[in-house]
Amino acid sequence: MKYILSPSLLSADFTRLERDIRICEDNNVPYLHVDVMDGHFVPNISIGVPVVKSIRQCTDLVLDVHLMISQPERYIEAFAEAGSDIINIHYEAEGDKKSLLKKIRAMGRSPAITIKPDTSYTEVLDLCEYVDMFLVMSVEPGFGGQSFIEKTLKNVEGLAQYRAKNNLSYDIEIDGGINASNLTKPLDAGANVIVAGSAIFGAEDTAAEIQKFKEIMSRYEVNL
Ligand code: DX5
Ligand code: ZN
Repeated sequence: MKYILSPSLLSADFTRLERDIRICEDNNVPYLHVDVMDGHFVPNISIGVPVVKSIRQCTDLVLDVHLMISQPERYIEAFAEAGSDIINIHYEAEGDKKSLLKKIRAMGRSPAITIKPDTSYTEVLDLCEYVDMFLVMSVEPGFGGQSFIEKTLKNVEGLAQYRAKNNLSYDIEIDGGINASNLTKPLDAGANVIVAGSAIFGAEDTAAEIQKFKEIMSRYEVNL
């Protein structure tokens, strides 16, 4: 299994996005996590299609786009065309999830389903054949810098057990409140894609913080 760090640009310096992206590239980070918020599904507004397009022009890293929007069906095409590689839609959003995930796949992008902390993983198991990844939120979506919600580890564990039992290979991503001190918790539970925003871009030395994360994650790669 591959262990992947996906730094969330929500906590990057928006006036120096390119610099922050280069720091990720220079430290061999494979993914960039891009948080899209509509002010409706979540109480915050962040970035949209034009910014994803600009980020795409600036890097070849995998763009892991997290759509925190009520009506993903209206925007999937635009985000795919803007250059998203992975498109995460929320289970709690509007629309038929199977057909939305199929649409993402048909556009040559990687489909993923996201669950909020109060949603149980059991509700999304029947979507497993349509996704490459499940994204487990470990904070209420909307803002960076919140505290990790412990009970969400149950969702990671449940998805990991189901994956092993059924010989499946989807990725399990965790997002919210992760830092170098609590990183082993989601890794022990079975997550293999780690999002971190404020811990990485809020650090005094972002490159050093990335290396710290990678060192901890590499212990898991060796073990498997
Ligand atoms: C929250 C976003 C997260 C956020 C994580 O709604 O989905 O990706 O940027 O930030 P931290 O790591 O600071 O909790
Ligand atoms: Zn996110």
